[in-house]
Amino acid sequence: MRRAIYVSGILLLISFLLVIADDFHQDWKRLQARFTGIAENRFHSTSDAGLNFNPGIAQINVPGLSHIDRCTTCHLGIDDPKYRNAEPPFQTHPGTLLETHKSKDFGCTACHLGQGFAVSFGKAAHRKLEYWNETMLPRPLIQASCGTCHRSEEVPEADILTQGRLLIKEKGCNGCHDIS
Ligand code: HEC
Ligand code: HEC
Ligand code: HEC
Ligand code: HEC
Repeated sequence: MRRAIYVSGILLLISFLLVIADDFHQDWKRLQARFTGIAENRFHSTSDAGLNFNPGIAQINVPGLSHIDRCTTCHLGIDDPKYRNAEPPFQTHPGTLLETHKSKDFGCTACHLGQGFAVSFGKAAHRKLEYWNETMLPRPLIQASCGTCHRSEEVPEADILTQGRLLIKEKGCNGCHDIS
C-alpha cells in the first residue's frame, strides 16, 4: 500500500513538471521572445516606451460581435506602421482596413474568421478544427465576410464581393435561392 502511494506521488510530480515544461514551449511565448529581437526593435528594451509591447496574452473584447480575439498575442506589429517590412507574423496589416476598422473595436475574426480564443498557431487559430465551423478564410476569400456588415450592393475595397453581388442580381439567382 505504502509503495503504491510513493509511486503515485512520484507520477504526480512528474506530470506536474511536464505541464510546466509544456507551458514554457507555447507558440506565443516563443514568438514574443523572437519579437523583441527583430531588426525594428533592436534598439529598444521591453520597458521602453518606444516599444509598444506588453508581454503576455493580448486580448481584444468586442462585445457587439460577441468576439474575444487573441490574435494580437502573436501579430504584435499589426497596428503599427513601423513594422511595415517586419517578418511574419509581426508585420503591419496590409492596406488601410485597420484604419477604418480599428482593431480595438472590430478585433480580427470579424473579417478573417478563425478561432479568436486560440493562442497556438499550428492548430487552433489558423487551421481547420473539428467542431469549429469558422475556419480562418484563405486570403482570396476574406471578402466574403465584408458582406455580413456591408449590405449595400457595392462594397468599397471589396471588388470580388461586389462583382459577385452584381452577378447574382444580373442572373436572377434570388428568384429561387435566398442568397444575401
Ligand atoms: C500563436 C501565434 C499566432 C496566433 C495566436 C495567431 N497567429 Fe496568425 N500567424 C502566426 C504566424 C507565425 C504566421 C506566419 C505564418 C507563415 O509565415 O507561414 C501567421 C500568419 C497569419 C496570416 C497570413 C498567412 C495566412 O495564413 O493567411 C493571417 C491572415 C493570420 N495569421 C491571421 C490570424 C488571425 C485572424 C488570428 C486570430 C484568430 C491569428 N492569426 C492568430 C501566428 C499566430
Ligand atoms: C475589416 C476587415 C479586417 C480586419 C478587421 C482585419 N483584417 Fe487582416 N486582412 C483583411 C484583408 C481583406 C486582408 C487581405 C488584404 C490583401 O489581400 O491585400 C487581410 C490580410 C491580413 C494578413 C496577411 C498579411 C500578409 O502579408 O499576408 C494578416 C497577417 C492579417 N490580415 C491579420 C489580421 C489581424 C491579426 C487582425 C486583427 C488585429 C486583422 N487582420 C483584422 C481584412 C481584415
Ligand atoms: C463587423 C462589421 C464589419 C465588417 C466585417 C467589415 N466592415 Fe467595413 N465598416 C464597418 C463599419 C461599422 C464601418 C464604418 C466605420 C466608421 O465610420 O467608423 C466600416 C467602414 C468601412 C470602410 C470605410 C468607409 C466607407 O464606407 O468607405 C471601408 C472601405 C470598408 N468598411 C470596407 C470593408 C471591407 C473591404 C471589409 C472586408 C474585408 C469590411 N469592410 C468588413 C463594418 C464592417
Ligand atoms: C430556376 C431556379 C434556380 C435559379 C434561377 C438558380 N438556381 Fe441554383 N439551384 C436550384 C435548385 C432547384 C437547386 C438544387 C438542385 C439539386 O439539389 O439537385 C440548386 C442548386 C444550387 C447550388 C448547389 C447547392 C448545394 O447545396 O449543393 C448552388 C451553389 C446554386 N444553385 C447556385 C446558384 C446560383 C449562383 C444561381 C445564379 C447564377 C442559381 N443557383 C440560380 C434552382 C435555381
